[in-house]
Amino acid sequence: SSSPVRRICCIGAGYVGGPTCTVIASKCPDITVTIVDINPVRIAAWNSPPNPKTGKLDDLPVYEPGLADIVQTCRGRNLFFSTEVDKAIHEADLIFVSVNTPTKTSGIGAGYAADMHYVESSTRRIAEVSTSSKIIVEKSTVPCRTAASMRQVLEANAKPGLQFDILSNPEFLAEGTAITDLENPDRVLIGSLPTPEGQLAARKLQDVYARWVERKRIYTTGLWSSELSKLAANAMLAQRISSINAMAAICEATGADVTEVAHACGLDKRIGPNFLRASIGFGGSCFQKDILNLVYLSESLGLPKVAAYWKQVIEMNEYSKERFARKVVSTMFNTITQKRVALLGFAFKKDTGDTRESPAATICKLFRQERAQITVYDPKVPHHQIYLDITEPGVIDDTEAAKKQVQIANSAVEACAGAEAVVIATEWDEFKTLDWEAIHASMKKPAFLFDGRNVVDAKTLRKIGFRVHTVGRGP
Ligand code: NAD
Ligand code: UGA
Repeated sequence: SSSPVRRICCIGAGYVGGPTCTVIASKCPDITVTIVDINPVRIAAWNSPPNPKTGKLDDLPVYEPGLADIVQTCRGRNLFFSTEVDKAIHEADLIFVSVNTPTKTSGIGAGYAADMHYVESSTRRIAEVSTSSKIIVEKSTVPCRTAASMRQVLEANAKPGLQFDILSNPEFLAEGTAITDLENPDRVLIGSLPTPEGQLAARKLQDVYARWVERKRIYTTGLWSSELSKLAANAMLAQRISSINAMAAICEATGADVTEVAHACGLDKRIGPNFLRASIGFGGSCFQKDILNLVYLSESLGLPKVAAYWKQVIEMNEYSKERFARKVVSTMFNTITQKRVALLGFAFKKDTGDTRESPAATICKLFRQERAQITVYDPKVPHHQIYLDITEPGVIDDTEAAKKQVQIANSAVEACAGAEAVVIATEWDEFKTLDWEAIHASMKKPAFLFDGRNVVDAKTLRKIGFRVHTVGRGP
């Protein structure tokens, strides 16, 4: 039918499903949005009451600036979080599939291919419980042509007479800025089949976004272009970081300054100034996963040179993290064994509590191998998460050893007291304005500072007495 969307179900209440559908609920008060998940702990956290002291929703499972306020306004009005997956599917006329698509860890394509199990089981649930026609929207990042597999699963299992239209609507939000990205996106991408039914479905989803996104920013394409554009965009973004990090290595060896090089290149309109910050390396749940996915896709299409090209972006990233850790060790007279090192920041970037693929965890593991004594401070990451990330759960349980070697502090100042080196792994704003004089006074000498994110003012810190090392800028 041509009636507009009234009931939305989002399968998957994670970093994408939660914020995305919360914003839809806030912009479309006449649409009922139900976000469902098979993980009852996550749903309970989304439904958690306000903190009695602050009146704010402090216990949501995803931390994003601005998110809690919107959840508070919409929850119970037209926004619901539930574990009743079947019921929400049954009632919806549009369903977002926003489940995880992690890299496979075993079997065919292990280490590269996306694990499509969660997408397929959601699709089978939809086929099983639907008694009315639905628009099904791929929100998860998926390999190119996934919509064709979903269609086969639906057609083979659904009740006769029902119409299922599949759309691709990849999500481009970045963590830490999810709400502003969602409220003011550079573009919304919607892929559909070129059939009249496919185009009608795409128009209905466009009408949802058009409540707050200008029509000219909503770009409609074919299904396969839309699916591939998501992998392409992430690959190109990650490639920029690996490119500037490769330049950083040259800068350190020559005396050039990578921030100047990035600025000089970025002044060219064709290159642009954004996303050229040199760092210890990129992290996050998606860049590596999506490039590996693209590498696997290229290999399976018989395009090994294309695969090797993109794989190099990841190899450069691994090299960046390792190079940084190596520099710490060599600068500190080739040993950090039993030395106290303060690791500031553990999240994969600022303004998030997410640690998936965080370069801080890699650095921490390398320091552990060097038998350093590490104190970690991060303003948002829960303590138990840090131990999960630096041990190998399921492989060997060395949590007890990890707790002896790695302490967690409640402030940056506490983490640095008595340390021989400070290592900044996440660019939290608060690190810029710490009382560095007091920190310097509390440290062993010489006091080393390794800024893996180029966030502190190296000149000022050198004046205080720190031996400062940055990424891509000579002393
Ligand atoms: P996530 O792991 O935080 O959330 C996925 C949720 O889906 C989990 O809570 C899981 O329990 C739930 N789930 C899995 N199978 C289910 C099922 N059959 N029924 C109901 N719930 C089910 O993952 P995420 O970070 O939100 O990512 C989701 C997708 O979005 C991925 O494909 C990812 O690549 C993509 N993506 C992520 C980001 C990001 O910033 N994290 C940005 C853009 C795109
Ligand atoms: C990234 C993309 O930016 C989003 O558009 C995309 O939707 C998302 O992946 C996804 O598909 O999951 P995200 O990983 O949340 O978003 O965060 P980014 O801001 O892209 O940062 C990724 C990593 O790169 C972080 O570790 C960050 O510190 C690092 N980075 C970023 C740099 O080292 N230098 C830069 O100039 C920018």
